[in-house]
Amino acid sequence: MSKHVLHALRHTDPQLAWLIRAEEKRQFDKIRLIASENYVSRAVLEASGTVLTNKYSEGYAGKRYYEGQEFIDQIEELAIKRAQDLFGAEHVNVQPYSGSPANLAVYLAFLSPGDTVLGMALPHGGHLTHGANVSITGKYFKAFSYGLDEGTHQLNYENIRALALEHKPKMIIAGHSAYPRIPDFERFRAIADEAGAILMVDMAHFAGLVAGKAHPSPIPYADVVTSTTHKTLRGPRGGIILCKEKYAAAIDKAVFPGVQGGPHNHTTAAMAVAFKEASLPAFETYAAQIVANARALATALTKRGFTLITGGTDNHLILADLANKNISGRAAAVALNAAGIVLNCNAVPFDKRKPFDPSGIRIGTAAVTSRGFMEAEMEQIAVCIDEVIRAPEDAALHARIAGEVASLCSKFPPPGLG
Ligand SMILES: Cc1ncc(COP(=O)(O)O)c(C=O)c1O
Repeated sequence: MSKHVLHALRHTDPQLAWLIRAEEKRQFDKIRLIASENYVSRAVLEASGTVLTNKYSEGYAGKRYYEGQEFIDQIEELAIKRAQDLFGAEHVNVQPYSGSPANLAVYLAFLSPGDTVLGMALPHGGHLTHGANVSITGKYFKAFSYGLDEGTHQLNYENIRALALEHKPKMIIAGHSAYPRIPDFERFRAIADEAGAILMVDMAHFAGLVAGKAHPSPIPYADVVTSTTHKTLRGPRGGIILCKEKYAAAIDKAVFPGVQGGPHNHTTAAMAVAFKEASLPAFETYAAQIVANARALATALTKRGFTLITGGTDNHLILADLANKNISGRAAAVALNAAGIVLNCNAVPFDKRKPFDPSGIRIGTAAVTSRGFMEAEMEQIAVCIDEVIRAPEDAALHARIAGEVASLCSKFPPPGLG
């Protein structure tokens, strides 16, 4: 993409143009396994880089604080309608700048400072905004957390129910950043009803799988659903909130003027494109392949002696505990990066190591699936990961694998690049 459109930038700011080109090449040449990343289409990139960035539009269609909204209103309404149709949601707000502000807006809509929430513990796969103590959501609200079952490393609904009945949270949060299984939204709904709580589901990670029908939808069960648009959903960096009509006014008011000012119209337009793409039959094939690839990679890693949390995956991500491999998650991630395989270290449930240098690595298949990798390539990735983790100090081996990775990647040009 940038090769085609950076003419002005190369002239005005050659240093920055060079850096962007270098990042583009990195994205082309490496196997990107960070579970929250993807490759957006050229159409999404184009919409993101338009004159829509020039326009201020505080408010909502038909009720803006500035004039000149005749096209912006149509763009935002198109994005909303497409998201409603894609997810079967009664109401959608497409203005959140990203996942964290979307979540914050939900807190503002339903809670007062000091109110009680119950979310998934950060070290067990929850997100910072689910009440972690370093987050505003943990500082301004009374946050309790549920963890995973010590034996199965899966959600334990009896335990979640007991915590909900004990603490009587005003809001329960389901959803995760690093859990390889599918939450039971019906159980969460029943627990929320029994405890008298609002149920929020944060589907940031698996929204693309929901859109592509490879994952159950939380929409019928949750009072409110938040998401990023840039992970499995393969849209621009942004956030959305989907809710029942009865909460529409509270949610809209919480986003603007509660948490944000003017929406990022270029992002809204790019979201509209992504929602259109995600509604096409090809996206269902894509979503199914993300899961098939994750399962194939999980099987191939298990064959090589890797310990996978919960023993495998039902979604786009795998969490491997490297305790039996005699290497920390960070050391593994650094060595793999040198070999052209980019992922992140991650805490595993009940991790004995510190969060900055935890025991695990998190692996996601959304980006590699976008570039056309299939089960055969997952096998190759597992071989490379295994070789690197057996020899984390062997720079010559890493260089050799990085070359093989670049050669494999050259056969699979990603969307939006080149
Ligand atoms: C479950 C979940 N919610 C929210 C977010 C926050 O999204 P953002 O980084 O866009 O603020 C993330 C990001 O990784 C996430 O995993």
